[in-house]
Amino acid sequence: MKVKEIFNGSFAVYYEMVINRIASPIQIDRWRKALVRAAKVLVPHAKVVLDCCSGAGNVGKFYLKENPEALLINCDISTPLLKLAKKRFGKNASYIRSDNRFFPLKEGSIDVLFSSFCVRNSPDPELTVSEAFRVLKPGAVWAILDFFKLDDRSICSAANNLIFRSFMKVNSIVNREAIEYLFESIEKFYTVREFEELLEDSGFEVTEVKRFMGGVANTVIAVRREV
Ligand SMILES: C[S@@+](CC[C@H](N)C(=O)[O-])C[C@H]1O[C@@H](n2cnc3c(N)ncnc32)[C@H](O)[C@@H]1O
Repeated sequence: MKVKEIFNGSFAVYYEMVINRIASPIQIDRWRKALVRAAKVLVPHAKVVLDCCSGAGNVGKFYLKENPEALLINCDISTPLLKLAKKRFGKNASYIRSDNRFFPLKEGSIDVLFSSFCVRNSPDPELTVSEAFRVLKPGAVWAILDFFKLDDRSICSAANNLIFRSFMKVNSIVNREAIEYLFESIEKFYTVREFEELLEDSGFEVTEVKRFMGGVANTVIAVRREV
């Protein structure tokens, strides 16, 4: 089952209404808020903000509290999740149904780009990185949150990984393929160090990396260099 089908089927709403509602207050909202704060510090008065893989707007809702004047563009392949985003933000945001390899946006037009649980889902992460570079203005910020492949063999990481996987595995009862996809996508993805290298080689300066749950999840903040 492809990621596009997963997030356009009944699992999308289950993700938002069940997984997200349980996990957000416990952990994930803290990570999203860290992402938003870091972007706000670097670009305090961003005008155009793109949330790629926005889903229902779980990052955008925190961002608009910090900077209500910004134009927030929610971009996702999921029709049901974009509908939920529309219900949440109404006319206070824009919505684009688009794949994260091809943003239908002008080059150098974005001040802040959020990618929360996004790049890992790309069929071609390198293409997503080059699209991010293309649409961001020089000096603009790319704020990324994701589950990365673990390279840390410490007990702390192993214990956190076990907690994370056990929580996710429970959801296999609802959609086994979606949860298998999640675990596979993490295994195929970069370690956070490899990802930092990719960003540095692709025209970004990585300014901050924060580990959560022993490195199971990380936020990566990068600034698009001048050409
Ligand atoms: C786990 S959800 C995260 C949603 C939101 N960013 C959050 O923090 O809750 C992953 C999102 O990525 C979207 N997605 C997956 N693959 C995508 C792709 N190739 N292009 C655009 N969106 C994609 C899904 O539809 C889904 O909304």
